Amino acid sequence: MAQESVTGRDELQDVRDLEMPRRGTGCAAEPAEDAHAAIPVILDCDPGHDDAFAIMLAAANPAIDLLAVTTVAGNQTLDKTTLNARRIMTAAGISGIPVASGRDRPLMAPSGRVATEIHGESGMDGPSFGEPTVPVVSTDAVGFMHSIIANHAEPVTLVVTGPFTNVAALLLAYPGVPVERIVVMGGSTERGNVTPAAEFNIYADPEAAQIVFGSGLPVTMVGLNVTHQVLATPSVLSKISALGTPLAAVCVDLLTFYASTYKSLFGFDSPPVHDPLTIAALIDPAILGCSSAAVTVELNGTATRGATVVDLDRWTGAAPNCDAAVTVDPTRFWDLMIAAIRDLGDDT
Ligand code: RIB
Ligand code: CA
Repeated sequence: MAQESVTGRDELQDVRDLEMPRRGTGCAAEPAEDAHAAIPVILDCDPGHDDAFAIMLAAANPAIDLLAVTTVAGNQTLDKTTLNARRIMTAAGISGIPVASGRDRPLMAPSGRVATEIHGESGMDGPSFGEPTVPVVSTDAVGFMHSIIANHAEPVTLVVTGPFTNVAALLLAYPGVPVERIVVMGGSTERGNVTPAAEFNIYADPEAAQIVFGSGLPVTMVGLNVTHQVLATPSVLSKISALGTPLAAVCVDLLTFYASTYKSLFGFDSPPVHDPLTIAALIDPAILGCSSAAVTVELNGTATRGATVVDLDRWTGAAPNCDAAVTVDPTRFWDLMIAAIRDLGDDT
């Protein structure tokens, strides 16, 4: 018989709750009425080797209706991330999807931090790309996102794989904008990758991240704690290479360069391909397991600015504001990613 406490709560259950193993549940929203309807998505990114794979997966998989690609400064300057989005879309034969460039600096943080040491001078070193044929339709990504969302028949899901600057600016400029969910690659339930505490996308614009987590909208956080399990191993590279298409060769060149920088900087035998996991989680919610948690972005800590403090064990009593990914199935992810490269490559 459970111990009844003076508050009437079952104290034993409280302990059980604390001791419950953290099993994730699906990280996406409730299944759509029509489970076969494609999810309308705007992808906001900072290509970036791994962002390039997110663009390809979103464009290729029929479960996603990619409405637009918007770019932000992050891995490289805005000019370079925008050119890289156009380059990979051209190489992958992705057409008819508008590209809009957004903010070239954080909301408040000092600008200028790029990730040349990981992504190279161009932001997508490795392959040689021809002149892109995909145009930029707007240099106001925030206004462009709003116009798409406001005029779309169903609520739109935002996926963010760079600093959250554009999306935070959207939420500030258009309060109450009808967004279905925001899925972000960013943060970590454990440690960082640009400081001991902070992950790059959050560290680049912590104020923007706090605005997104504090928006009251459904947010799924795909952090380093799961993306570091999604590695482009030699076996993955040989499966991609075996596709034998020009696009597959571009992907192998991207991952080979990316592997070299991750090896020299972090000692990874194979590089984590962070960003496309956000898209994969929408396509196949079973790929990620999530726990709802209150996430706070540290803005003021001298050693911890940009950290995501994820209260998985309810220490603070704060209401959860996101679904934080805590488990991942890398095999299911790579099945989707390699199929996307195959399908796009067959059409180019
Ligand atoms: O920390 C990894 C994230 O920062 C990825 O999105 C990578 O592309 C960079 O933007
Ligand atoms: Ca990115």
